[in-house]
Amino acid sequence: MGSVTVGVLRERAVGERRVALVPEAVGRLAPGGVRVLVEPGAGAGAWFADAEYVAAGAELVPAGELVQRAQVLLCVGPPDARTTTALRPGSLLIGLLDVLRTPVAAGVWAETGVTALSLDLLPRTLSRAQPMDALTSQANIAGYKSVLVAADAFRRFFPMLTTAAGTSKPATVLVLGAGVAGLQAIATARRMGAVVTGYDVRPESREEVLSLGARFLETRAFATTPGRTGADGYARPLAEAEQLAQQRALEEAVARADVVITTARVPGGRSPVLVTARALERMRPGSVVVDLAASESGGNVERSEPDATVVTAQGVTVIGAGRLPSAMATAASTAYARNTGALLTHLLRDGIPTVDLADEIQAAVTVTHSGSVVHPAVVALLDDGRARLGGNR
Ligand code: NAI
Repeated sequence: MGSVTVGVLRERAVGERRVALVPEAVGRLAPGGVRVLVEPGAGAGAWFADAEYVAAGAELVPAGELVQRAQVLLCVGPPDARTTTALRPGSLLIGLLDVLRTPVAAGVWAETGVTALSLDLLPRTLSRAQPMDALTSQANIAGYKSVLVAADAFRRFFPMLTTAAGTSKPATVLVLGAGVAGLQAIATARRMGAVVTGYDVRPESREEVLSLGARFLETRAFATTPGRTGADGYARPLAEAEQLAQQRALEEAVARADVVITTARVPGGRSPVLVTARALERMRPGSVVVDLAASESGGNVERSEPDATVVTAQGVTVIGAGRLPSAMATAASTAYARNTGALLTHLLRDGIPTVDLADEIQAAVTVTHSGSVVHPAVVALLDDGRARLGGNR
């Protein structure tokens, strides 16, 4: 059986504390002939010491040498420009590469001869792909943490409490978007004793929300009707008129809530605005809004800012929380390492990573291979970009 050398760098993105492989996962991969190189300090943000990696069988290697020696590079986010230029032709790159948002990077990997596999393109409903589902593992963590963040900023109790000093009313929590993160937020807020309502555009989410003991928000002006889910299970983007109707329909429920947690996203597209500035103005002072979709390109809440907390003139705390998995870096890295480890193991043929585009999972996640961009959605985005550039000339 052959053997493969896998490299793990320290993540370069500002504020990123996660690491792509944890010591425990290094130990799990070793019997399959996987040799692991780790950059010193790679796990420090998630509290994994270099010594733990060495004890698990990894070799500590400086970044420059690591990129040259590794046949497979595991990462959390896409590599920075410096790492990208150093990538070795023929090597494999595996991570949450976010290529639908930044397709240009794919062109660079293809030119270098790097085979890039992006975990955010994994089919979500294929049961044999579930161990590799990094979007789910990370969203689950974000959903849980969002409730803790909200509870911390909220100046009242979540549960109803009866003490000699009186009885507190339970907090009312509204969760907008009931995918993986939303359902975990609903379950967590329920466990903390809040009165919880969930909402999503996908009709099938209603039963899931109810099964967690929460209420489902029915909006008369904007019905959750069949046809709002695409074949891939994701919500389809709403037309502008639909979006406006939805915002108006949600306004009343937002105004009534003590805490609003928003988790709605559309893959590769802009996150829909669900909480408008007008809705925020109608909320009571002391209310809290946590926006899991907050990013540089916008979020679900009109006033949210990425990685920042804003208190509005009406006293509503708006928390931009797009990077919550990193705030629980130990749990997030442990789960993520299982996902990357599962994909890596899936690729090994007699100990050698071999990409087979006839395999449904591999075809879905492979962005570049043999010097070309092979993922149809990424090819389309690049062609689109070129056409627009041509049109501007
Ligand atoms: P996501 O992170 O892409 O979006 C979060 C939620 O926001 C989704 O439920 C989506 O429907 C909702 N949303 C989007 N636009 C909205 C709008 N305008 N208003 C209200 N809500 C809106 O979704 P996530 O959590 O990654 O899940 C995506 C799909 O994959 C879901 O259908 C989920 O059930 C499915 N899935 C299935 C799994 C399985 O079968 N094992 C595992 C994981 C996910």
